[in-house]
Amino acid sequence: MCGIVGYIGEKNATPIILGGLKKLEYRGYDSAGIAVIEEGNIELRRDVGKLVNLEKLVEQQPLSGKIGIGHTRWATHGAPSAKNAHPHIGETGDVVIVHNGIVENYLELKEELEAEGAHFNSETDTETIVHLIERNLGSGVSLEKAVRLSLQRIKGAHGIVVISSKEPDKIIAARIGNAGGVVIGYGEGEMFVASDIPAILEYTRRMSFLESQQMAVVTRENATITTLDGKAVPAKIDTIAWDPVAAVKGNYRHFMQKEIHEQARSLIDTLTGRVDFENNRINLMNLNLDAEKARKFNKVIITACGTAYHAGLVGKTMIETIARIPTEVDIASEFRYRDPLVDENTCVLTISQSGETADTLAAMEEARNKKAMVFSIVNAIGSQAMRVADGYISMQVGPEIGVASTKAFTAPLVDLYLFAIYLADLRGTLSEEERYRSIYDLRVIPDLAGKCLKREDAVREVAEKIKDIHNILYLGRGINMPIAYEGALKLKEISYIHAEAYPAGEMKHGPIALIDQDMPVLAIMPKDQWYEKMLSQVEQAKARGGILILVATDGDERAGELGDDVLWIPEAPWMLTPVFATIPLQMLAYHIAAIRGLDVDQPRNLAKSVTVE
Ligand code: AGP
Repeated sequence: MCGIVGYIGEKNATPIILGGLKKLEYRGYDSAGIAVIEEGNIELRRDVGKLVNLEKLVEQQPLSGKIGIGHTRWATHGAPSAKNAHPHIGETGDVVIVHNGIVENYLELKEELEAEGAHFNSETDTETIVHLIERNLGSGVSLEKAVRLSLQRIKGAHGIVVISSKEPDKIIAARIGNAGGVVIGYGEGEMFVASDIPAILEYTRRMSFLESQQMAVVTRENATITTLDGKAVPAKIDTIAWDPVAAVKGNYRHFMQKEIHEQARSLIDTLTGRVDFENNRINLMNLNLDAEKARKFNKVIITACGTAYHAGLVGKTMIETIARIPTEVDIASEFRYRDPLVDENTCVLTISQSGETADTLAAMEEARNKKAMVFSIVNAIGSQAMRVADGYISMQVGPEIGVASTKAFTAPLVDLYLFAIYLADLRGTLSEEERYRSIYDLRVIPDLAGKCLKREDAVREVAEKIKDIHNILYLGRGINMPIAYEGALKLKEISYIHAEAYPAGEMKHGPIALIDQDMPVLAIMPKDQWYEKMLSQVEQAKARGGILILVATDGDERAGELGDDVLWIPEAPWMLTPVFATIPLQMLAYHIAAIRGLDVDQPRNLAKSVTVE
C-alpha cells in the first residue's frame, strides 16, 4: 500500500525521489519521508500528512546527495505521525530503510532486540528490521549479508529498500511474498528502485521486477539479482511501453476526471490487436490457452476484490451466455479461506488493476495449490498477478492514478467479453453466426463511450442537485446489477455518502422500507431483457415517494416521465450496456465529490494498491 522510491547516480537524489513519491502518493498518503546520504552521513526528513508537507519541510531544511530512498505511508502499525513515517534509521545512524508490508512477528523480535539493549523510536513493526540489520552489521558482515540475515528472521510479506552510509555505493532491495512490487529501473550511469512503475517512468523504460524471495544489489551501473539464499538470478529487463504523460494530470482538475475521459481511448486500445474484425476472430495470445486446455474446463471461477470483483460479476453473465460454461464469482478474501471446490479442470480467472492485491494473489495461490489453471486480467505490467498466472490479458489502459478505479473497470468488462468469445471459440461451441454477431457488436464501443463522455455537463447538473444527500439506493438487474454495486462503491469511496446497492428484485424484500423523499433511488434500466421488470420496481419506488434518478436508454419516454432526473445512455447491444451505464455513474460520483470539495484522487483511509490482508 505504501510507495517506495530509491535513486543512485550522479544527480541530486532529492527531487528525483520526491517527484517519484508524488507519482506514488495514490498508494498511501498519511505520512512521507526521505533519506539521502549527504557528505557521508544519512540525512532524514519525515512529516505526517500528504507529501506536500514533506516537500515544504525539505524546502525549509534542504538535503541533497547522490543516493537516497523515500516512502509514502499507509499506516498499519502505529498511527500516522512523523516519527512513525519511513524511512527508519537505526541507532548507529548508519543504516536507513523503507518498507512495505507487515512484520508479523515484530512483537517477539522487538522484545528480543530490546532485551539486547535496542531502543525503539517509533511504534512501527518496520523499525525491528533496521535494528536487526544493525545487529548483524555489528558482527562485521557486509550490508548485503546483514540484510539477508535479517530477512531470514522476519515473518510475513515484504518489500524493503536499504541504504547505508558505510557502503554508500549501493542500494539493497528485496521482496518476500506479496506486499507490493519491487521494480528496478536501468538508466545511463544511474539506477532506480520503486514499488511501482509510474515513479520512475520519467527516467527509464527499462525495468526488472523482483520475484518473491529475491534481492537486488543496485549500484550506479547495474543490478545484481540473487535469491535470498544467495543464488544468482539472471536479470530479465522489460521495456515498458506506458506513456509517462499518462501519469500526469494535464488540464483536468483531478486524475479521476482525466481517467474517466481516457476511456474513449482505453477502450479502443482494449480492442486493438485482439479483435480481427475482418476474419471475425479474437486473439488473446498472452492467455497461453489452446483448444485442448479450454475443452477441459468444467467451470470458471472469477475471483477479485472491490471494483475488479464487480467486473467479474458482469463477466459471469458474459461467459455463461457466450461460452455456456458455469461461472462462479467470489471475493478473493473469501475464496482464499473457504477451501474452494477447485481442481485441475477449473479455470480460475483473477482481475486486478494493480496486480499486487494481497487477497487476490493469495486466491491465485490457493487455486494453484489445488491444481487449477490460473489466469489473470491485469493492468500493472510486470506485476505479480501477471507473472504468476498461466496466462494473462493485459488491460490496455496505462497507469491509473486516482484511487477510485474507472478506466481499469470498463476495460476488463470488454476483456471479459473477449475472453468469453475466445473460450467459446476454442471449445468449438460458438456458431459462425454467433461469433460474427458478438464481434460485430464490439465496433460500437469507442463511439458510444465517446457519446457518454460528452454528456458530462448533464451529469454535473444532477450532481449539483443531489450533492447534499446522506444516503442513496442503487438498483440494477441482470447484467447491470453489478453496475449498481460499482456505482454505489464509486460514490461512497470518494464522497463518503452512504450508498447501498441491491438487485432491484430484492428491493421489496426489505430495502423498500428505507425509501422516502430523503432516500433517492438510482435505477439502471437500459432497454434490455430486464427493462420491464426494472420499470415495475422503479414504479414501486416512485409510489413510496422516492426521488428517482434513472440511467436509461435514449428515447425511453417512460423513463423520461418517471425519473426526477435521467442520465441518458445511447442504445447498445445488451451485453455491452454495462460499459455505458458505468460512465455516467463514475461522472456522478466524481462531480458530487468535487462539488463537496473533497480530495477525489486520494480519499480518506484508502490506498490504490491493497497489499495487506
Ligand atoms: C476501486 O475504486 C477501489 N479503490 C478498490 O475497490 C479496488 O478495486 C480493489 O482494492 C481491488 O484492487 P485491484 O484491482 O488493484 O486488485
